[in-house]
Amino acid sequence: MAKQRAQWSGRIGFVLAAAGSAIGLGNLWKFPYIAYENNGGAFVLVYLAAIALVGAPIMVAEILLGRRSQLSPVGAFRLLAQGKPGGRAWMGVGFLGVMTGFVILSYYSVVAGWTIRYTLMAISGRLGTLANHPQELESFFGSFLGSPFEQILYHGLFMGATCAVVYFGVGRGIERAARLLMPLLITILLILVVYTFWTPGFRQAMVFIFRPNFSQLTAGGVLEALGHSFFTLSLGMGAMLTYGSYMRKKDSIPRAALTICALDTLIAVMACIIMFSIIFSFDFEVKKSSTILFTTLPVVFFKLPGGAIISALFYMLVGFAALSSTISLLEVVSSYAIDELGWRRKRATLTMGAAIFVFGCLSAVSNGGSALLSNINFIGRPSTQGVFGTLDYLASNWFLPVGGLFIALFTGWILTREESCDELESGAGNIRTPYTVWRFLIRFAAPAAVGAIIVSVILGAEYQ
Ligand code: PHE
Repeated sequence: MAKQRAQWSGRIGFVLAAAGSAIGLGNLWKFPYIAYENNGGAFVLVYLAAIALVGAPIMVAEILLGRRSQLSPVGAFRLLAQGKPGGRAWMGVGFLGVMTGFVILSYYSVVAGWTIRYTLMAISGRLGTLANHPQELESFFGSFLGSPFEQILYHGLFMGATCAVVYFGVGRGIERAARLLMPLLITILLILVVYTFWTPGFRQAMVFIFRPNFSQLTAGGVLEALGHSFFTLSLGMGAMLTYGSYMRKKDSIPRAALTICALDTLIAVMACIIMFSIIFSFDFEVKKSSTILFTTLPVVFFKLPGGAIISALFYMLVGFAALSSTISLLEVVSSYAIDELGWRRKRATLTMGAAIFVFGCLSAVSNGGSALLSNINFIGRPSTQGVFGTLDYLASNWFLPVGGLFIALFTGWILTREESCDELESGAGNIRTPYTVWRFLIRFAAPAAVGAIIVSVILGAEYQ
């Protein structure tokens, strides 16, 4: 008799863990950076539409597949596709997800590790000293990235923290960490938002973010917003599917999915408010570069009163947000070994964690950091920067959208109406109208939109 599957303690536990997965470097680093490059307003609006029309329906679909099957991605597709068109071939989508989790975690953890270093430097005062001389900060950052020892050290520390959480399992590890990290993260963010409210750049930041100017919107911007909605919501590789497999039948999937999407969006917008207010407060020239978080912001932080505290809080915040995301990436890979290979959780976590750490060292030492910063874009051109750049390009430009497309197609066209409706009504009651809207979105809108991303990547359109 199979062991009973672990479960979240309840609705809040699930929402916190899943929101933890969604909220990460994508929100705090990537979104402000791409919103800035795409001139704010109109781009932000398109992003909101992408979350509502594509992200949210796929989020519902992933959670649904997980809870229905009570398995991680590979098993979920095997079970749910039984006797249906495509049959066992659908398992490929699950394998793709596990592989994507492995690859993304290997480089995500390298960047996440930088936050440890920056938090320590903020506390020790070193960051303050460097920040007084922007040139020195930049050269510090460069030599930090170029130091294999340091890169591996912080990458290792971050992987260690991630393994430590996943090791203890769904309830005692992941949920407990989320219950601690999420309120902390939201508190730090609120403190920072309140703080920036008093900075001179606040007004300009609000206008930049919320006043759409459609003449500045490009086709590339639209696709980038769409693509980013995937990465930021952790969709397309089975992370939400896996978390959904631990969800109780009596909780409502649509409600949870909407809460997660709303939280994720809220945090991304708050991150923009904080960063833009600070940047606009000083006529600071932001280079068209994605290193804002590590080379521009510290300089600005230290022009403000309490710079050391603000910056320490900030980098800690980014680290916590990244940790709750890396946990979900490792959980996808570990739960594959647990469900499909029959490993015990401890063995699965440590073995997979170690393998990912070793693999990630490639990114850490091949000057992966700088490659990452120029290539983590969800939609971008293939990188010429070695193993690491290529992997990143593959993972974020191909694996996630392709995974998402198949998840949408499977849920919309292969699962029967009875199956999906039954699962969604469990815990949510009678939801006829929303169900019809969701089914339309998942069958037509989501595949069309994701198809557009994939086609445009194939055509190699220029986005930057
Ligand atoms: N959503 C995370 C972020 O925004 C990244 C992530 C992607 C996590 C895919 C899990 C799976 O940073």
